[in-house]
Order: sequence, then C-alpha cells, then structure tokens
Amino acid sequence: MDRQGWIKVEHLNKTFQKQGKRINAVCDVSFELYPGECFGLIGESGSGKSTLANLVAGLEKADSGAVYMEGSGGRIDLLAKGSRKLQKEYGQKRQMIFQNPRLSFNPAMTIGKGLEEALRYYTKLSKEERKKRALENLELVGLKKEYYDRHAFELSGGECQRAAIARALMIEPEFLICDEITSALDVSVQAQIMDLFVEIQKKKKMTCLFISHDLALVSNICDRIAVMYDGKIVESGVTDQIIHHSSSDYTKKLLQSVFLADQETMTRYERKKREKQKVF
Ligand SMILES: Nc1ncnc2c1ncn2[C@@H]1O[C@H](COP(=O)(O)OP(=O)(O)OP(=O)(O)O)[C@@H](O)[C@H]1O
Ligand SMILES: [Mg+2]
Repeated sequence: MDRQGWIKVEHLNKTFQKQGKRINAVCDVSFELYPGECFGLIGESGSGKSTLANLVAGLEKADSGAVYMEGSGGRIDLLAKGSRKLQKEYGQKRQMIFQNPRLSFNPAMTIGKGLEEALRYYTKLSKEERKKRALENLELVGLKKEYYDRHAFELSGGECQRAAIARALMIEPEFLICDEITSALDVSVQAQIMDLFVEIQKKKKMTCLFISHDLALVSNICDRIAVMYDGKIVESGVTDQIIHHSSSDYTKKLLQSVFLADQETMTRYERKKREKQKVF
C-alpha cells in the first residue's frame, strides 16, 4: 500500500456558541489517511467526532485549518472558498453515512429515487442507467429489488442502513466517512451491517474514516486509530500499539473501562488479530 497520506487534515478548529458559552468542539486537529485504509476515530460522547466528520466532509465550515487531497495533479484544498467546480469534484469523491439512516432519507421519496439522487446531480446517466445501478447496489447490500419502490419508513433499521450504504456507493466514491453507522441498530443487526461494510470497503478499496465510540468495533476493523477527547486528538497510531502500549492516560482509562466492563471485548480483539495473522 502506498503510505503517502492521501487525505490530510491540518490544524482544524471549530467553536460553537451555546447560551453565551464558547465550546471548542474541534481544537487543532491534524491527521492523515492513507489510500484504501479504514482509519478509526474513537472518543466519548461530546468529544467532537461528528463535528470533525462534518468539517472533513465539507458539510460544516471550519474556523481555521485545512483539508487537503493529494492527487496526481497535486494538492487540492478541499475547504477552499469560491470554487464550485472543486466542491463538486470533491462531493463526487466522498460520501458520508450517518448514524440514523431513516433521518437521512427523504420520507417522501422512494428508496430507489433516493439512491438515484446523487447520480442525477453528478452524472449524465439516463433514467434507465440510473435505475440499473440502483438495483445493482440494492443487490450488493443484500436487499431485494422490491425495495426500490419502498419508502424509508417501510424498512427496518438494519434494512434502512443497508440502503444508506447502497446510496453512498452510487457515485462510486473513493472516500467514505462513516459516523456511528451501527449505533442506532440492534446488537444482532450491528454485526451483519459491519460484516457487509468491511466486505464492501475492501472490495471497492475505499479510504474510510470510521467513527465510533465502540473501541472494540473500531479495533477489529481498523489498522490505525485516533483517540479524541475534548476536541483534541490525544493519541493516534497503529491499533495494536495503542491498545497494548498507549502513551495517553485518557486512552488507558478508556481501554480500562471498556475491557473491565467487557472482558469478552479483549477476547474478541485478540481472536480477530489471530485470525488476521493466521496464528491459532
Ligand atoms: N451545532 C452545534 N451548536 C452548538 N454546539 C454544538 C453543535 N454541534 C456540536 N456541538 C457541541 O460540540 C461538542 C462536540 O459535539 P459532537 O457532536 O461533535 O460530539 P461527538 O463526539 O460526535 O458525540 P456523540 O458520540 O454523542 O455523537 C459537544 O459539546 C456539542 O454539544
Ligand atoms: Mg457524534
């Protein structure tokens, strides 16, 4: 794998004003994503993960800092003002999947039309071609073609998240931002969605920023992780290194609370690791 950073986040800052108080949601955050990797971002509730995701996706405006994409044509500043063409190009390369799939679908629109929306905006594909791709993607995520004519409220949570994954793949993005994509789902469904997600991410070789407060989940699927606390990244690096030799007191506490609360977590992590290394 090429170890040159492809997406580079540099010194991002974002503050909010709430009831006269200043909240430093994201403070001087920098990290980079390698092409094709699934990079995990963990941290407790309110640590700034979603704000950071929205900044990187360009859905929210940063107070300062930059997000760059290193392409063959050089470095592109993704947050640069005034370039609609650039924004459109970036929009086509990246997609985001959210925590609550039902809220991210227009309730008045069928799933099929929802899937085709990005194609209408970004491509010149005909109506038939758009429908063909939507049906192909529904099949890819394990949904029957009948779901094309259904609405989000007619789907279960798991089915709806499958449809959201299908929709994110419609314009064949290179970069996927996933913000707590399983936390609104039943535990039994979470594993199915994760298996599906990992399979697709590997198959399509997409670069992914995977956000969750579930350290066990992230450590199972990400080779590198960053730990966020109070708007800052307190530690980042290779997952194994962070789990076993963390240098941050906060990460150690986080690990302790997870592992003490759930001994099974450690077992799961070790098992996955052994499977990966084929050591039994
Ligand atoms: N639009 C907003 N206006 C004011 N404050 C906000 C806004 N969005 C986020 N915040 C605040 O910024 C901080 C970070 O919030 P954020 O949603 O990014 O955290 P998070 O790590 O995603 O949490 P969770 O795990 O609960 O989703 C919080 O203190 C939150 O209250
Ligand atoms: Mg969040």
